[in-house]
Amino acid sequence: MDASLATRHREAGVDEAAAARLTERGLSLRVVPHERPAYDHWLQASARGFLDSERTDEQIAAALARSSSRRLLGVYDPSAPQDELPVGTFATWLDDLALPGGVVVPAVAVSAVTVSPTHAGRGIARTMMEGELRHATRVGVPIAALTVSESTLYGRYGFGPAVTAATWTIETRRAGWIGPEATGRVDYISRELARSLAPGLHERVLRSRPGELAMPESHWGRFTGTDADAEKPGAVRAVQYADAAGQVQGVAMYTVTENEDDFTKATARVQYLLAADDEAYAGLWRFLLSLPLVATVTASELSTDEPLLWMIADQRAARVSLTDHHYVRILDVPGVLGARRYASPGQIVLEVSDPLGISEGRWLLEAAENGEGGIVSAEGVDTGDVPVLRTGTTELSAMCLGGVSAAALAAAGRIETTDVAAVARMLGWHVPPRLSFWY
Ligand SMILES: CC(C)(COP(=O)(O)OP(=O)(O)OC[C@H]1O[C@@H](n2cnc3c(N)ncnc32)[C@H](O)[C@@H]1OP(=O)(O)O)[C@@H](O)C(=O)NCCC(=O)NCCS
Repeated sequence: MDASLATRHREAGVDEAAAARLTERGLSLRVVPHERPAYDHWLQASARGFLDSERTDEQIAAALARSSSRRLLGVYDPSAPQDELPVGTFATWLDDLALPGGVVVPAVAVSAVTVSPTHAGRGIARTMMEGELRHATRVGVPIAALTVSESTLYGRYGFGPAVTAATWTIETRRAGWIGPEATGRVDYISRELARSLAPGLHERVLRSRPGELAMPESHWGRFTGTDADAEKPGAVRAVQYADAAGQVQGVAMYTVTENEDDFTKATARVQYLLAADDEAYAGLWRFLLSLPLVATVTASELSTDEPLLWMIADQRAARVSLTDHHYVRILDVPGVLGARRYASPGQIVLEVSDPLGISEGRWLLEAAENGEGGIVSAEGVDTGDVPVLRTGTTELSAMCLGGVSAAALAAAGRIETTDVAAVARMLGWHVPPRLSFWY
């Protein structure tokens, strides 16, 4: 990540047009300092928006310590009885987002979007979102990304659901292991050791899976139960997988819930499983599926093509449900489609419309034999019989990580194209995208 880009993004003032629009409504938009008590009020408003309990003093201090890289916005109502309490919250930060082909681009990650129910329906969320997307575009960030509480919120701003998440519930005794025998070993480790191993492993795997975002540092404490303010830290168990040469290639964290009616039927929930290679993946899953006294293993934010399905004898021992998960929003079409790689050579013309006018235009996209993409403006250019894709930003964003098929979107009437097969081949990718966490 380019540190100066991150600094320019974080330290700029608020978007002037957004501030002016809120001023007209008697409200004030501000960048929130990372200082108490302003931060306390902001965090309490955000927690309430997500239906969480009021944060304790200790939790606020811990969250503040973890949030230094974030740009925090608050909307304030000077006529409210306590005008220091924000009626709207919004947080962003820059991090690497993996695209098809092992490349990363800086993405503006959006989180903590809340508006108090006392001020809902007045366009506060829209104004903050539009302002922050304009700000990110001005700074030069090519794409925005977020995970959602409701599917219906963000398409209107050009965000498309590009990554589907799978939730697994596995009956361990029915599954039957037919996967490879890993040659390394699995050992229990302390939560603190898991905490120190996980970030490096995640960095190693990030580029191998489009859709994955660099993990915010603050998440590791939650996954490993090492946060100072963790509610039940002792519930998290951690193991590592080391290969035959003794190199650590994976870690897994899980919690267990007893079954009070039958002690042999506990449920293990995989908090996070991180495997840098296929052996570590097989070794850790096999270990989890053979935990004594555990009848069910659950895991979420998995990909839609987990090799695990082919490592169990009875595929119906696993119930898999799918959810829209990672939404992305292209801000700079050449910046994203020129950076990602392509599975097959070809050419398409893109005609993109954008409800916010940020990424509108006409381009010629060309994929070379070596998978690299080239993209040039085709505004007013006669592109002959090159296949044309007419798409909104939302649909192009959904397709840009290679996991959403142009064929499905065309059949659903969401895009128009003169050659659906050519467009689907060009924008598809052999590994479906994945994001392994929420933010
Ligand atoms: C979702 C939330 C931020 C919306 O805030 P808001 O200020 O009332 O939203 P706005 O008035 O700016 O509405 C913007 C648009 O979103 C639509 N919208 C708002 N809430 C919606 C909902 N729950 N479902 C679908 N659409 C919604 C509005 O109709 C409006 O549409 P339009 O501008 O295209 O006509 C607010 O309800 C909230 O805090 N919810 C709880 C926390 C949450 O889920 N946050 C989102 C985290 S991903």
